[in-house]
Parts: sequence; structure tokens; C-alpha cells
Amino acid sequence: MRFDTIVRNGTVVTATDTYRSDIGIANGRITAIAQSLPVEGASKWIDAAGMLVMPGGIDVHTHLDMPFGGTTSADDFESGTIAAAFGGTTTLIDFAIQQKGQSLRQALETWMKKADRKAAIDYAFHCIITDLGDAQLEEMGALIAEGVSSFKLFMAYPGVLMVDDATIFRAMSEAAKYGGLICMHAENGGAIDVIVRRALAEGKRAPKYHALTRPTTAEGEATSRALALAEMAGSPVYIVHLSCNDALEKVREARDRGLPAYAETCPQYLFLSLEKMDAPGFEGAKYVFTPPLREKWHQDKLWQGLAHDALQVVSTDHCPFCFKEQKELGKDDFTKIPNGGPGIEHRLSLVYTGGVHGGRFSPNRFVQLVATAPAKLFGLFPRKGTIAIGSDADLIVLDPNREQVISASTHHMRVDYSMFEGMRVKGVPICVLLRGTTILEGGKFVGKPGNGEFVRRQRYNRV
Ligand code: URP
Ligand code: ZN
Ligand code: ZN
Repeated sequence: MRFDTIVRNGTVVTATDTYRSDIGIANGRITAIAQSLPVEGASKWIDAAGMLVMPGGIDVHTHLDMPFGGTTSADDFESGTIAAAFGGTTTLIDFAIQQKGQSLRQALETWMKKADRKAAIDYAFHCIITDLGDAQLEEMGALIAEGVSSFKLFMAYPGVLMVDDATIFRAMSEAAKYGGLICMHAENGGAIDVIVRRALAEGKRAPKYHALTRPTTAEGEATSRALALAEMAGSPVYIVHLSCNDALEKVREARDRGLPAYAETCPQYLFLSLEKMDAPGFEGAKYVFTPPLREKWHQDKLWQGLAHDALQVVSTDHCPFCFKEQKELGKDDFTKIPNGGPGIEHRLSLVYTGGVHGGRFSPNRFVQLVATAPAKLFGLFPRKGTIAIGSDADLIVLDPNREQVISASTHHMRVDYSMFEGMRVKGVPICVLLRGTTILEGGKFVGKPGNGEFVRRQRYNRV
């Protein structure tokens, strides 16, 4: 048997198993998994002794090159995917936003152009629906069949992205017919809008009022409504960027009743809390994203949710805006601060640190949360998200004991601050392979922008 590459002597970790093995790769796929493969039969071998070999990370929630809040997110598909590779992510799912009146296909074409010849890792798109006429409703089935098998709808941002309950219900019903998955931004946008107007009228304009005007109750209520609409439509639902216990309880309750309800959280909600908004001057703007940071006690609940499967996925909601000039758009009015934070690079290290080293869950559960469950839910499995014969050789070699201090001075995201500045993480990907080609080694990106491929996804699968 001939191999292009053999990854030798590592400890293979999948969502279910841990074992010592070599992995043989040919033509971008895993073609052998065995205790010992002959290195003479390979053009290249990678020594993974003492290391963990895991499937490449899958980040199902990113916003690259996205116009939002009067500006555009700072990472494009080149800088964002290179930063992702540094952190061990080999596939991402970004969002193609439908402008009102546009067809869903037009939205997809716009985002395909943004990624073309730039992406350094594999990518796919969810389609954000802002306007669901009969024509767009009809497009949903065709898009699902063509590999765009999930859609995001917003219950927040009135006048911009928010849609009403009837639209959500129609979209869920249609997705259910064809095996698609609806992702929900669950916050009660109408109520929040009233609270925001009151705050502004009282002269409350500092960044911290972004968080103080978006109560956890608004997220809990919208989550509950999204779950009820999905139940009525007979469709699965996936709650994005879940930030608080109020929403978590609703998802847990639905799952306990056997409903196909799923949710992700993000590292910012696991590691950062509301006190960050009290940073001096305008510093709090670095943490203006939606939903906002919560009181610290919610963090433990979220970690427990990850450990016990009330939450299934950790994504980043990477939506970077530079502090200078971009966040500063809202210097005198928190409603004008572009919403979003950078995180694509450090997801795996942060979750490994808090989850595995923190004693909250096993390395297998880690793989499930950052790779396998995202792959299954979003139709990428078994091509991606696992280590198996025939799967794409998207692999990371992770040093479980290597430490790193996160800093904007060393990160690769095109943004002038880090939400996790100074945080020490333990568990760092030291080698990353995309379809068998090494894209990160020796601390250097050695891949190529443009080598990332668009992935046509299958339909949603239960996890
Ligand atoms: O603040 C955020 N999360 N910005 C990105 C858009 C969204 O709602 O996911
Ligand atoms: Zn959102
Ligand atoms: Zn988002």
C-alpha cells in the first residue's frame, strides 16, 4: 500500500474512541488506520509521538467579509481562514445574507465570490433569510439539494435582519420537508428595541448599555418561542450563540421531551462575563456582540450543558471589527458600535483548556463538540468530523501540554485586539492537515489561499 503521508505514533482521539495508531493518507483521504504502517511506503511522515491526533475542527458560525453595522467585518476569507488554520479549524460554515427582495441564490452567489480563490480551508454556507416570499420559499428545497442545507433567521435586529413568527414558521415547515436545518438567533428584538430607546432617552450611551439593554429573559423568551414554532412545524431547530441559563433551560426541556432541538455556545460566553463591560473609557466596546456577556454564574451552567449534552456544539460567531475606526463608530452611542467579536483562531485551545484540563469532560467529548456534532448536524459527516477510512484527511496533531498566551500581538486575525488578551491556554494544535496537505507546521502557515474548497453538504442528521 502506498501513502502520500503517514501520521505516526500518535494517540487517535475521535468522539467515541481513543487508541494508539498510525494513519495512512492517499489522495487527500484516510486510507489506512493501523498500529504500524510502513514508512518506506510513504512520501512523507509526521511524527505524532506523545501527541493527540484528532479530526480537524469545524466552526459552523463565522462572519467573514460581512457588511454589518455600517462597516465590514475585518477578516476576509483569506485572513480569516488562515487564522482558523492556526487554531486547528479545517472547515467553516459562513453565512450568505439575502438582501430584501433578492433570491436566496443571489445571496449565495455573492458569498461564493467572496470566498473564491481566497479560502485556505474548506468552507460552506448557511443562507440567512430576511425576506421569504413564495419564490424564495420555493428555492429552499433546491438549495438543500445542492448542498446549502441550513438557514439562519433572526428574532432580533428589527428593521435590519429580524423576521416575524409567520416567516420563521414557514421556513421551518419548508426546511422540514427537505431535511434542512433552521438556525435561530433567539432574542426578543421588539422588546429589546423598546429598552434600548428608553436607555438612549435617559442619556445612557456607553458600551455597557449594549449588554444592559439585552436581558437574559429576552433570550429565554425567544428561545422558547423558536422551540415552540419548530415543534409546531415538525422541524429540527438549532439555537445559535446561546449565552445564558434562561435559554439553556428551554433547550434542555425540549430535548428532555425528545424534540430535535440543538444549541451551540461560544468561547466568549464560557470565559468572559459582564464585568468586562465596565472596562475604562470605551474599552467595553471590544465586548459588544449579541447576545451580550452575562453574569459570571451563567458560565458554569453552560459548561455543564456542554458536558451533559444540553448543548451540542461550540462555534465562535467570529465577527471581527477593529477597535480603532470600526468599534469607534459607536463612540458616542452604543447602538452604533458594530456588533461582533473575533474568535476564530482560539476555539479549540480555549475549549480544550476549560473542558479537558478543567476536568469537565473527556478529550472525546471535546472532539464531539468542536468537530463531530457540527459535522453531523450540518451534513458534513462522515466526510468530515471524524477519523475513519474514506474520510477527508483533515487532521490536527494537538500537543495537550503545550501552553500559549493569547494576544493580539501574536494572533493571525486581522483585528487590533483580542477578547482573550493575556489568557493562558493549554492544548495547542501544532500540525494541521487539510485533505492530506499540511497547512500548519513549525508554527507557520504553509497552506495556500485558494486551496480551500466549497463543500456541498448533505442533509441534517440527528446527533
Ligand atoms: O454580535 C454578533 N453576534 N454579530 C454577528 C451577527 C450575529 O448575530 O450572529
Ligand atoms: Zn446571531
Ligand atoms: Zn453570528
